Amino acid sequence: MKNVHVIKHPLIAHKLSILRDEKTEPFHFRLLVDEISYLMLFEATRDLPLRDVKVQTPVAVANTHKLDVKIMICPILRAALGMLDSVFKLIPDASVGFLGFQRNEKTLEAEFYYAKLPADHTERTAIIIDPMFATGGTAIDAVNFLKGKGVKDIRFLALVSAPEGLKRFGEIHPDVPVFTACVDEGLNENGYIVPGLGDAGDRVFNTLGA
Ligand code: URA
Repeated sequence: MKNVHVIKHPLIAHKLSILRDEKTEPFHFRLLVDEISYLMLFEATRDLPLRDVKVQTPVAVANTHKLDVKIMICPILRAALGMLDSVFKLIPDASVGFLGFQRNEKTLEAEFYYAKLPADHTERTAIIIDPMFATGGTAIDAVNFLKGKGVKDIRFLALVSAPEGLKRFGEIHPDVPVFTACVDEGLNENGYIVPGLGDAGDRVFNTLGA
């Protein structure tokens, strides 16, 4: 799976193990999702283009660089909202394109229900964020949707992934890089990642058992 980039870093590994722990409280869970996303985004944006700029420092003119790209962050509702703040910390002028998918509990597949993209979305590099890359169904549909809207440069950021989903996604969208902090053992009969971390949305929003 050439399009999959597993971001290995001791800080990410450490934080991920606390994130997985069922005893980790929602406020700590949210903090960790934010921190891990922040660290991962650093890698996922490593190849963004720069333009030359001159800046007057108090001492002299510096020949320096600024981003030469407009970013659109696409959180998949709702769990990815927990990752959004970290993106704004690193890329404050990113636009947000919301994508709403919900899991059909019978088929375990994603069903589209909402999208709100910025008007200039075709000019932007899209970074889709979703904490869990499970069956790949949502990811495939989200990328199909953005490609259908004319978005050309798309990348995907997920904290925890399942090999089945990554394989399926790579067969359909080999041009879209996926950045993930780890690839777990697989999916269980309910489409949950094993060992995973449970339902990310419920843990972010403290709605377990709702
Ligand atoms: N979504 C989740 O929140 N967790 C999983 O394990 C799979 C999908």
